[in-house]
Amino acid sequence: MKHSCLNSRMALFNPFHGILFICMSFSLETATEATFLNVSDRLALLDFRKLITQDPHKIMSSWNDSIHFCNWVGVSCSLSNGRVVTLNLESQNLVSSIPPSIGNLTYLTGINLRNNSFHGELPEDLGRLSRLQHLNVTFNFFGGRTPTNLTHCTELTVLSHPIWDREPYFSVLSSTSTEYTTRKHTN
Ligand SMILES: *[C@@H]1O[C@H](CO)[C@@H](O)[C@H](O)[C@H]1NC(C)=O
Ligand SMILES: *[C@@H]1O[C@H](CO)[C@@H](O)[C@H](O)[C@H]1NC(C)=O
Ligand SMILES: *[C@@H]1O[C@H](CO)[C@@H](O)[C@H](O)[C@H]1NC(C)=O
Ligand SMILES: *[C@@H]1O[C@H](CO)[C@@H](O)[C@H](O)[C@H]1NC(C)=O
Ligand SMILES: *[C@@H]1O[C@H](CO)[C@@H](O)[C@H](O)[C@H]1NC(C)=O
Ligand SMILES: *[C@@H]1O[C@H](CO)[C@@H](O)[C@H](O)[C@H]1NC(C)=O
Repeated sequence: MKHSCLNSRMALFNPFHGILFICMSFSLETATEATFLNVSDRLALLDFRKLITQDPHKIMSSWNDSIHFCNWVGVSCSLSNGRVVTLNLESQNLVSSIPPSIGNLTYLTGINLRNNSFHGELPEDLGRLSRLQHLNVTFNFFGGRTPTNLTHCTELTVLSHPIWDREPYFSVLSSTSTEYTTRKHTN
């Protein structure tokens, strides 16, 4: 984290002031809150935002430092520990991919990115989300294979894919095997 912050500080001379602002506010927090994982959640969300190349509805403008990340559009947090529990960015016309750091959001129980233009592969790091129950990625342009590491997500009951086309299917993941039983979603 320190390393990336130093890198961002070098961007001080870059006209992109957003980077400087983010980095400064993180530095202020470092002294008192570095041990709190909610700070790491915030960094992971900022990393997620960084990969978004198109955001026609400008929802990411709410992902700013004047409001707490638990109030950012699409983000909801646990009331008890302030950690991110769901990420719901359905039908926002976002063009992006999913960074490996999503695996840092270790309290996530649900991810819904349905109906956007996410591309690339689903990162193996999703396997670090041991509380994940719903992963809904239909209607996107994901490629590659489904991460085998998803078998570590033992709570995962609804894996809505396939990632290889834009048809709505329901997949039920068996925690004891790497195979997925896929059936057409009939609604
Ligand atoms: C993280 O949690 C601590 C302790 O509850 C709180 O004081 C702090 O404001 C939180 N920071 C963020 C960025 O949510
Ligand atoms: C994610 O966590 C890893 C390991 O704790 C850390 O090295 C990395 O900087 C974190 N990434 C982000 C974007 O916070
Ligand atoms: C931050 O987001 C809030 C909520 O969308 C918005 O009202 C506010 O203008 C934003 N602030 C900045 C500096 O963009
Ligand atoms: C996808 O999102 C667009 C708006 O972003 C909406 O018009 C469309 O109906 C959605 N399609 C599905 C299948 O949900
Ligand atoms: C795969 O999942 C395991 C178990 O959660 C985790 O320790 C490992 O870091 C994950 N692999 C990657 C590449 O993220
Ligand atoms: C996708 O996620 C939404 C919101 O969580 C849910 O209502 C919907 O049923 C999910 N679709 C499938 C096919 O699981």
